[in-house]
Amino acid sequence: MLEIELRNIYDFIKPDELNSSKGNVKSANEMLLNRKGKGSEFLGWLDLPSRTSEDEINKIINSAERLRSMSEIILVIGIGGSYLGARAVIEALNGNFRVLSDKKFPLVLFAGINLDEDYHKELLDILNDHDYSVIVISKSGTTTEPAVAFRIIRKHLESKYGKANSRKRIVAITDKSKGVLRKLADEENYESFVIPDNVGGRFSVLTPVGLLPIASAGFDINKLIDGARESERICKLEFENNPSDLYASARYALYRKGKVIEIFATYNSRLIYFAEWWKQLFGESEGKDGKGIFPASVNFTSDLHSLGQLIQDGCRNIFETVISVESYRHTLELPEDEDDIDDLNFISGKRLGEINKMAELGTSLAHREGGVPVINIKVPEISELTIGFIIYFFEKACAVSGYLNDVNPFDQPGVEAYKKNMFALLGKPGYEDLAEIIKSKL
Ligand code: PA5
Repeated sequence: MLEIELRNIYDFIKPDELNSSKGNVKSANEMLLNRKGKGSEFLGWLDLPSRTSEDEINKIINSAERLRSMSEIILVIGIGGSYLGARAVIEALNGNFRVLSDKKFPLVLFAGINLDEDYHKELLDILNDHDYSVIVISKSGTTTEPAVAFRIIRKHLESKYGKANSRKRIVAITDKSKGVLRKLADEENYESFVIPDNVGGRFSVLTPVGLLPIASAGFDINKLIDGARESERICKLEFENNPSDLYASARYALYRKGKVIEIFATYNSRLIYFAEWWKQLFGESEGKDGKGIFPASVNFTSDLHSLGQLIQDGCRNIFETVISVESYRHTLELPEDEDDIDDLNFISGKRLGEINKMAELGTSLAHREGGVPVINIKVPEISELTIGFIIYFFEKACAVSGYLNDVNPFDQPGVEAYKKNMFALLGKPGYEDLAEIIKSKL
């Protein structure tokens, strides 16, 4: 379901050099499996696909059906790991215009992903005119952005449907006992799901955090989990046949050669949000203790006309990871034109997919020859099954990568810095001293 091709890195890293990290990769895997490495209290994701029961999946499907039955719009409130996975999968499976062409399923919108006044006001204006329900997600139950959005939306729901009815339109996904959201959910009697203690935010897409929004959008979460289960099996194989090990060792070897920026490149517009999920997964997991590859992303061929120059010719500290999707859902050929004024008849009759493929092959070669190693990850198609597979593959590769760099891939201490400053500036009780210090620096 997924193939790693490394031939476009061998000008930079010899196969022997890759094999030399085999021992380190093996130790990283052992630390994961024996639950002996840093952050081992957050390894619940490791066997999550195989542990997920039919009952759990059915409970999620039932909840999604209930929400769908009363909603034109399902609003998902959450940020970071409580948002990006669901959006990545929904956008990948939705296709580009499904929201316009298929009215069978509700439109899934997102809130709590910023503190943008216009965004939230414009959202309320839309919600005035449509029936909607809300999935509010926060593991800690205290994150500012979703908490702010949820307060605004709760008031809106109450004024639109009344207090009692609005409660039926809210599903909370949070910790089993901690945090304000849990308190609210219990007091207001919202339907709720638990985020397991041992699964961190960015590793939580295969828990109700991702599964409920994805099922609400009308996708088959059984197949998603099946794909992830197969990935769990494959990503345990020995090094040579283990795509997550090969990927982790290739990027580690490149990092050690000074390639400190990894660009996730896709030629498929459905994967733009998948890149956002991937960036968070690797960025938040690896970027600590002064270490880490900076994860960036591009959508080709569009970005060849914006960032292509820099990738081809700029500072040689980057490598590229290309996700190649081998087949398309639809067929579209470039038509013949008698006059050929646009000089395109040399490719008329060709499928756009083939033209895109040639763009991909040509670009990868040009980048490699320009000093940018390219890791190719091939998947046969975009479907629930393959997306489930890729999710687990990247999670496993990310954990191994963290251990290769001797960091804890499962914490995010750096995220607290901006929050403290923001709370101090907003006058949160308890932050008075810090507020004084900050104000003197501004
Ligand atoms: O990966 C993580 O842990 C973070 O990105 C969190 O998901 C993010 O900060 C949101 O946190 P919470 O779910 O507690 O609101």
